[in-house]
Amino acid sequence: MCGIVGYIGPRQAGELLVSGLKRLEYRGYDSAGVAVANGTLDVRKKEGKVDELASLLKARPVHGTVGMGHTRWATHGAPTDVNAHPHIAGGGRFAIIHNGIIENYGSIKRRLMDKGYTFLSETDTEVLAHFIDDIQKETGLDFAESIRQALTQVEGAYGIVALSEDNPDELIVARNGSPLLLGVGEGEHFIGSDASPFIEYTRNVVYLNDGEMAVVRADGYEVTEINGAPVAKEVHALEWDLEEIEKGGYDHFMYKEIMEQPEALANAMRGRVHADEGTVKLGGLEDVMKQLEAADRIVICACGTSWHAGLVGEYLIERFARIPVEVEYASEFRYRDPILNENDVVLVISQSGETADTLAAVRQAKEAGVLALGVVNAVGSTIARETDAGVYLHAGPEIGVASTKAFTAQVTVLAQIALLLGKTRGVLSDADLKENLEALAKIPTQIREVLEQQAEKIEAIAREMRLAQNALYLGRGVNFPVALEGALKLKEISYIHAEGYPAAEMKHGPIALIDRFMPVLFVATREATYDKVVSNIEEVVARGGSVIAITDTGNRGLDDLAEHVIEVPKTSDAFEPLLTVIPFQLLSYHVAVMRGCDVDMPRNLAKSVTVE
Ligand code: F6R
Repeated sequence: MCGIVGYIGPRQAGELLVSGLKRLEYRGYDSAGVAVANGTLDVRKKEGKVDELASLLKARPVHGTVGMGHTRWATHGAPTDVNAHPHIAGGGRFAIIHNGIIENYGSIKRRLMDKGYTFLSETDTEVLAHFIDDIQKETGLDFAESIRQALTQVEGAYGIVALSEDNPDELIVARNGSPLLLGVGEGEHFIGSDASPFIEYTRNVVYLNDGEMAVVRADGYEVTEINGAPVAKEVHALEWDLEEIEKGGYDHFMYKEIMEQPEALANAMRGRVHADEGTVKLGGLEDVMKQLEAADRIVICACGTSWHAGLVGEYLIERFARIPVEVEYASEFRYRDPILNENDVVLVISQSGETADTLAAVRQAKEAGVLALGVVNAVGSTIARETDAGVYLHAGPEIGVASTKAFTAQVTVLAQIALLLGKTRGVLSDADLKENLEALAKIPTQIREVLEQQAEKIEAIAREMRLAQNALYLGRGVNFPVALEGALKLKEISYIHAEGYPAAEMKHGPIALIDRFMPVLFVATREATYDKVVSNIEEVVARGGSVIAITDTGNRGLDDLAEHVIEVPKTSDAFEPLLTVIPFQLLSYHVAVMRGCDVDMPRNLAKSVTVE
């Protein structure tokens, strides 16, 4: 997500920080800022790309040899100058930059407000900064110890760097859940959320682990655990080049994003799903909950992969909350003069938050006087701003053109909305809710299992599939949208023609296409319609077709029918798409790589479709 850079040594920090931030822009960039100490603390920050910050620094330079910089990818609060990092506290004496989400920032903020603190921004980071100030004032502890105290009381994920004009000889660094590493030079040290900002100065790095904190000086550093116990750290020599670092060592962003899904989904649930208490909280919907609960109908509008997530959402909302749902292509919705009644709610889904047709659906809903909600990844995007309320994905920036982690994060958020509505509408009992939340909370670990245990098999299947000219993807119920998504993933990055169908529809047309050259990919998990899907598989096999089946772990019933069986762990039927889509993503990726396609930037496609 956000990018962090820090420097302490003999060089002028300003330029070094800006060039480091440019390297980090790939992690997300809605605003950027730096703080440099030189007697006083100079902070410059600006909405927009790092170039905007660079222009500001040309007009108002900073001088000093210790500093830190941040590229923001918004999580709390829109991308504005004020919300950009660094955030100052203590009357401007110190500043912090932060990557991650402080979950209990609301309660800390209320306590600080009672004590008279005021806040300039809407961020959780500014709350942390004032919290550190408050601790310092109350206890008289030094800067580093006040930070330590604050961090023992915050919940959530963070990678932070702090700089104080009173201690310009040190940068304080801490990590819990957001990557941070130190670059070890001679008489100088660097900090980064990855090594890209300082790779040309040093390849010697120290990786901080979760729960560790460091005091970094020009001539050395000390690492401790948050509880104060010293930690001896090893210095590693970095072998990756710049491009490899940005891609986390993977060859492509798409692959990195597939592999990031356990973490992305944990972030999409962080502070929301409380499986142990059996509660789900969606702060973004609080103000509209009464209206949403009373909706006669929810109309979901989206495009492409987000539309597929919407189809899963239809299933989830109807099943858990018993509200009728319709799913529309946003591009069709806008021109067909749809009937919208007062008690309807329009819910749009968009990774980028900028898709022109989806935005048009928002405007149409508002014109009709209907509540417009958004499930969006890019904070502060046009759709996020124009909808009446919504829920962010918190999946981190998605750079590969083919959407992967955004799809699973969208489904995860829709599942939370469905469960919350189910509870407030009295459809779900406390016990049902708890059981479903427990199943949802397990998904990140189960995705990790699929990624680890099925990877080799999927690559081997891709080797066979790479020569295909057509492919058919089939699934039923909640897995029908997974079939559509599997087919879309294959065609968009490998240029193999693929179609997704409900399995039972096969005999109404697509069965005519089946021959031994066309792979037929089934989602065949043991749920209500399993036997029917098995009959469809038999129909394909009887016509000489070659079947690849995704099923749940331990099902041996397909071994004699399918050429390949890929297993995913058992979850609640409703959440299966979160697991069954993973092999399809990996399969498309490997097929595309083997066919020599440009995986991250497939021909003719754009990441954000801002035109009709
Ligand atoms: C496919 C893909 C697209 C997008 C679609 C909507 O992999 O990425 O189909 O899902 O263009 O984009 P957003 O979600 O940004 O509105």
